[in-house]
Amino acid sequence: MYLYDEVGSALFEVITALPEYGVTRAEERVLKAHAADIVNALPANVKVAELGSGSGRKTRRILEALCKKQPTAYYPIEISRTALQLCHRELGDIERVSIVGYERDYLAGLAEVSAKRNKGEHLLVLFLGSTIGNFARLAATKFLRSIRGMLEPGDALLLGTDLIKPLPALIAAYDDPIGVTAAFNLNLLARINRELGGDFPLDAFEHVARFNPDARSIEMHLRAKRPLSVRVRDADLHVDFEQGETIWSESSHKYAAEEVAPIAADAGFECTHQWRDEEWQFAESLLVAR
Ligand code: AVI
Repeated sequence: MYLYDEVGSALFEVITALPEYGVTRAEERVLKAHAADIVNALPANVKVAELGSGSGRKTRRILEALCKKQPTAYYPIEISRTALQLCHRELGDIERVSIVGYERDYLAGLAEVSAKRNKGEHLLVLFLGSTIGNFARLAATKFLRSIRGMLEPGDALLLGTDLIKPLPALIAAYDDPIGVTAAFNLNLLARINRELGGDFPLDAFEHVARFNPDARSIEMHLRAKRPLSVRVRDADLHVDFEQGETIWSESSHKYAAEEVAPIAADAGFECTHQWRDEEWQFAESLLVAR
């Protein structure tokens, strides 16, 4: 979550438009092709909560399909106020949709939405974009269990997962040639400088993206180009770096399509449907709370 201040969120929006980063376009293709099937697989009387809506652009297809069947309440849950404002602007014109944003972290927001529903109403929780990939594997299952704990049987979770694919495409997606992902990564240090009185010399660190075959994840690191000392005043921290030492800033786990159902089962869901994008290798899975 530290990557997504105003600057980081804006850079991430640019990442989603990069030719090398196929994740967002793949999910948009799946949602465009299958929105009606997704909606038809849901119980009647559904409210929609989205964990980390971003600008909300991808959600339009689902909401439009749902609003053809019923007036729909949509609750985007976001730590970024700017993203919530964008979301209102992006989706507010859909007929029969009402939007109430929650500026909360995922689980606190979902707990509120779930507690406010009326008898007979079901929830569809959207967790798109393969954000689950940014959790370590065990933490991902634990997180799904926490979501399940706030749902009733028959409620659904639509989960986007980026799938394992050949290495060159994976690396290019996280190390693009014009350096947007590098800027997104370096912004972490810039943010520490801005908000915590850090003195990271930004030109002394370089962005590295590498694949960890054991974890099946892309790791982003910031590598010290020379030996140096850094202070972070407000954290009362002093760190010495040797040349080549890295700060491990993000992991993005990649899944096999067949892995989703057993993980979901472990967390108390049944994977009833899965839709895939073959061009980029991405899966959207519908998990129903048992
Ligand atoms: C938000 N999340 C799914 C992105 C990903 O692909 O792991 C974040 C990202 N990091 C670098 N590029 C994109």
